[in-house]
Amino acid sequence: MMKANSSWFWARCGLSGTLLGMLLLGLTGCGEAPPARFRLNMVEMVSSEMSRDQQIGIANVLTAAFGTPDEPFAMAEAELDLKKLKAAAGAVASDQLGNEVGLYRRHCAHCHGISGDGAGPTAAFLNPYPRDYRQGVYKFKSTERVARPTRDDLRRVLVEGVPGTAMPSFRLLPDHQLDALIEYVIYLSMRGELEQRLVAETFDLDEGERIDQLPEVAEITKEVVAEIGEKWAQASDLVINPDADLAPPTDRSPAELAVSIAAGRELFHGERAACVKCHGTTALGDGETTDFDDWNKRLFKLSESKPDLDLAELGALPVRTIRPRNLRQGIYRGGRRPLDIYRRIHAGINGSPMPGSAKASPDAAVGLAAEEIWNLVDYVQSLPFDSLSLPPEQLVAPKRERL
Ligand code: HEC
Ligand code: HEC
Repeated sequence: MMKANSSWFWARCGLSGTLLGMLLLGLTGCGEAPPARFRLNMVEMVSSEMSRDQQIGIANVLTAAFGTPDEPFAMAEAELDLKKLKAAAGAVASDQLGNEVGLYRRHCAHCHGISGDGAGPTAAFLNPYPRDYRQGVYKFKSTERVARPTRDDLRRVLVEGVPGTAMPSFRLLPDHQLDALIEYVIYLSMRGELEQRLVAETFDLDEGERIDQLPEVAEITKEVVAEIGEKWAQASDLVINPDADLAPPTDRSPAELAVSIAAGRELFHGERAACVKCHGTTALGDGETTDFDDWNKRLFKLSESKPDLDLAELGALPVRTIRPRNLRQGIYRGGRRPLDIYRRIHAGINGSPMPGSAKASPDAAVGLAAEEIWNLVDYVQSLPFDSLSLPPEQLVAPKRERL
């Protein structure tokens, strides 16, 4: 009786014995997770009206050039270190010698996404969003505005994190793991950059032909990857190194520092540097607050020009505006050394509306001279200690002479 009842129960539920067995096997870990996949940049694919066939073609070219999340590959032209990529790629595990692999998925993917699109499962909850690496655009670096960051710059970001954002510090990871992760970030960037180039390129296709079926596509891919690789290789030649003779001496007296701060204040509020336009006359970051960073601006423009596109459906996060920094808090995402702030003002912040302020050459008519940028560095660094920035109990009461 019992038996009949229970088989009736399973039949009602539509579960056969074998199916139940498969479920149990799955639960006990005998089943394999499906392999991780790179996701195409669907916003670009659909907004550029790539047909389904062309999307498959681009995906195939990308796989040929860069492999998969479990089996990365690097063409010689990319100048990437495959050994490092393999340590960072793949599922979280240890190899026979106990070396950890799958570092990117362990530490980064839940924010930055398997494809480096900045849209991992945690991303929607963060402001600012994690970086989308696929454009090769980075903010906090030592190089000229549009240049790629150096490997050292990426290392700094990993070691220090990005203060004031969700990007944590990975200071405790051993050096070889940091190296592997840096290589992997560059790899994801290059892959994303190639994808964008393939979308933008116009190919001579016959009816029904896909780009991966073109005989010349291997050659074109090599050329584009070589160009992208070259940009990354050049980064270290484009580091902003201010002239040591023009830098303020380290043994300045308080009076000398006060003179420089006053000159910086003048520039900050003046028309030439125009910092107040965005940071506000208060320096609280309450000037221009309705602008976007490059990633969100692209989405905002698409939402205006193609209102029928469902951007969320294509994997995009909701569009967000960017706020200029509140300079009274003393939190610097790109580093707090005077040199870091110098570089931020010199080149601006790539990918954000903050413009570069330096003269293109020492005798250029427009832009700020190195001494003026140092004045601004002094002023910016004085702002958190300005009496208006302090909590009321720390305000310095003006001295009153007794009558
Ligand atoms: C909790 C979420 C989170 C995790 C985990 C995380 N990041 Fe980030 N990351 C961010 C956010 C948010 C930003 C953007 C900061 C900004 O734009 O100011 C960022 C920015 C970056 C940048 C760009 C810096 C620049 O100059 O533009 C790099 C590179 C980066 N992360 C690498 C990594 C790597 C590698 C890992 C894993 C080892 C990682 N991140 C883990 C959230 C995260
Ligand atoms: C067009 C708007 C705009 C102008 C003009 C502008 N900024 Fe910014 N600034 C921003 C934005 C936006 C950010 C935040 C960028 C980000 O984190 O992505 C920022 C960030 C900063 C930071 C923070 C850097 C860090 O590491 O966190 C400093 C310092 C700064 N600006 C100084 C200045 C100075 C000095 C000037 C004038 C020479 C200036 N800004 C002009 C928009 C502007």
